[in-house]
Amino acid sequence: MTILVTGGAGFIGSHTVVQLLEAGHAVVVLDNLCNGAAEALRRIERLTGKSVPLVKGDVRDRKALDALFRAYHVEAVIHFAGLKAVGESVREPLAYYDTNVNGTLVLCQAMAAAGVRRLVFSSSATVYGPDAPVPYVETLPRGRTSNPYGTSKAMVEQLLTDLQLADPHWSVVLLRYFNPIGAHPSGVIGEDPQGLPNNLMPFIAQVAVGRLPELAIFGDDYSTTDGTCVRDYLHVMDLADGHVQALGRLETPGLHVYNLGTGCGVSVLDMVRSFERVTGQSIPYRVAPRREGDLAAFWADAAKAHRELGWQAFRGLDEMIADTWRWQSENPQGYRR
Ligand code: NAD
Ligand code: UFG
Repeated sequence: MTILVTGGAGFIGSHTVVQLLEAGHAVVVLDNLCNGAAEALRRIERLTGKSVPLVKGDVRDRKALDALFRAYHVEAVIHFAGLKAVGESVREPLAYYDTNVNGTLVLCQAMAAAGVRRLVFSSSATVYGPDAPVPYVETLPRGRTSNPYGTSKAMVEQLLTDLQLADPHWSVVLLRYFNPIGAHPSGVIGEDPQGLPNNLMPFIAQVAVGRLPELAIFGDDYSTTDGTCVRDYLHVMDLADGHVQALGRLETPGLHVYNLGTGCGVSVLDMVRSFERVTGQSIPYRVAPRREGDLAAFWADAAKAHRELGWQAFRGLDEMIADTWRWQSENPQGYRR
């Protein structure tokens, strides 16, 4: 199948492109490179020996999408392109609704016009909201959201649900990611956030490599075993495999929702200690106030993905850390070395 991967030059998209190529699919990437790197795609070409055409363009640009659908025989779309920094979304809500909601709307309009009705969407565990019991299971309703980023994901889920109801020819898979970390085991591609990292793992990795002086742990007074927040971290390669497996589900029209996580919770302090143990690097840290909007603890019930997609997260925490560290230590400045 030829797959359009929007946001394919970013963290999860680039790893998914590798696994799609390895599975025998052809890929075309659409990315405006606002948080992605063309270099990632060049490295993927060297790694796989396959070509990865990049259309540098914006997912909100209908003309660019129409031209892309004319130029390539796209059979399905995996839609990663979006903005993802929670704090920034509070300061710039319009940018988030424009890129994440309007971007998906324009993409779906272009897909419908091109007769392509198979879509996998990057959703998030954040749509369950603060009141959902853990582990999160897909039968729970979407909850209230606490920032424009989360709201934009919930709005897109609703948009796609309505679209699929109105036209049952659409096949839509909503993948609710938990916390992806890690990197390709080769060390040639990985997570390369622009500016100060928002997420825990790239922050720790940049402290370890000497780019940042210390980690701030946001709160140690939560009602968890050690007082720090607990998350379900999964290897980005497992997450990428989940997308390849989700493509099979697109054969059946309908709306399909899956959690992609390991089912295991890891605290911030567990992560710091595990990183030190696996890499031999010391991670200086201080405890800082809680970060607004953080939940104490959540993890996935991923049984449905196992049952229906045959998907499971196989890679453990030590492998996630070792692969992150290989990427970061071999590419201290990310793709800009
Ligand atoms: P990323 O920022 O590394 O990748 C997103 C890519 O989309 C980037 O390459 C960026 O340049 C591109 N992009 C952004 N706006 C665009 C636009 N208007 N037009 C074209 N391209 C555009 O982020 P990621 O971590 O790879 O996340 C991918 C998707 O998964 C996002 O939708 C994100 O919200 C979602 N998600 C991520 C996480 C996580 O923890 N990383 C968790 C849940 C959901
Ligand atoms: N944390 C720190 N210090 C940091 C960064 C993070 O202590 O410098 C803590 C946070 O407070 C939180 C934990 O590490 O307790 C994980 O934080 P991340 O920012 O890495 O991840 P989040 O769980 O907040 O959010 C991530 C993505 C969202 C996505 C969500 C789904 O950023 O896009 O996972 O699980 F919606």
